[in-house]
Amino acid sequence: MNKLLLDFLVCPACLPLEFPLKLFIRESNGDDIISGHLYCKKCAQKYSVDKGIALLLPDARAETSSSQYRYEEEKVVSSYLWAHYSDLFCDHDANDAYSAWSSHFLKTGGIALDTGCAVGRFTFELGQKSNFVMGIDRSYTFVKLARELLKKGCLDFPLTMEGDLTEKRTIILPDKLKNQNVEFLVADALALPFSQKIFAMVSSLNLLDKVPRPLTHLLEINRVAHGDNARFLLSDPFSWSLDSAKKEDWLGGKKEGQYHGKGLENVCSILTKKNGPLLPPWILLKKGVQPWKIRNHQNHYEMIRSQFIVASR
Ligand SMILES: C[S@@+](CC[C@H](N)C(=O)[O-])C[C@H]1O[C@@H](n2cnc3c(N)ncnc32)[C@H](O)[C@@H]1O
Repeated sequence: MNKLLLDFLVCPACLPLEFPLKLFIRESNGDDIISGHLYCKKCAQKYSVDKGIALLLPDARAETSSSQYRYEEEKVVSSYLWAHYSDLFCDHDANDAYSAWSSHFLKTGGIALDTGCAVGRFTFELGQKSNFVMGIDRSYTFVKLARELLKKGCLDFPLTMEGDLTEKRTIILPDKLKNQNVEFLVADALALPFSQKIFAMVSSLNLLDKVPRPLTHLLEINRVAHGDNARFLLSDPFSWSLDSAKKEDWLGGKKEGQYHGKGLENVCSILTKKNGPLLPPWILLKKGVQPWKIRNHQNHYEMIRSQFIVASR
């Protein structure tokens, strides 16, 4: 964990109250904390930093949706490494979704946050637009791989071909994505371990329909984004599922009740309403559809229509 982060961190277990964390270092390499822990004096919670990875979950066991465990499986990891980096190893079916999403941000500097970053491609993309970027995800495996790529600039992985058969692929980060002003943390998009109003850019890609309380995720983004001069990109296929959230908490996909109708319209209204839950309100700049591809094996791909909203304030 980069030591510079300490100025921005708060205890995720104490939210909505914001208390700083104290860092205890066991081993470091320059600004990189290899092992140690972060401690909250207020609630006495200890957060470990091990092999450079900070674990900042409010409670590691609480509120993990049943679908979350799949992100630690080898085949799912292979799918996501392909989805994020297949253009870099010149796969002819490669995705260009991440550079397309990144075009919605201008190179304005400031600090950026990529929530649900998975294996990190969009975080690296945001590194080109900002002075420092943090990628957070609940999956330890994803964060570990993203960090390995950050530190070494390359990563070998087994790409699933068929059944248990795999082939080795190597991801090499191009110079434009190599940037040491990037950090990855294990953290929860529903209890972001950051002080309010610090981020000039925030993204939530294909995450809203995967969290147990989607509205809390939007409230958390709203808390940590600047009150003005902020840009927010949300993209989601709105694949509401009881595996991720109770129906009463879905922000769309329902015939009746609060947030009935379509997710895209409901999220636009939540963001922009003058006396809504997110203040100051956001201004809608653009909405559209970004095709995105996941590869399960060499003969099976999923095409996802991720509907996006670009907002600013
Ligand atoms: C469908 S994937 C999308 C990944 C990435 N944003 C992309 O578009 O390629 C959802 C990601 O969100 C992460 N995730 C799910 N619930 C989370 C939570 N509460 N906090 C942080 N990350 C979460 C998962 O581990 C997974 O990496």
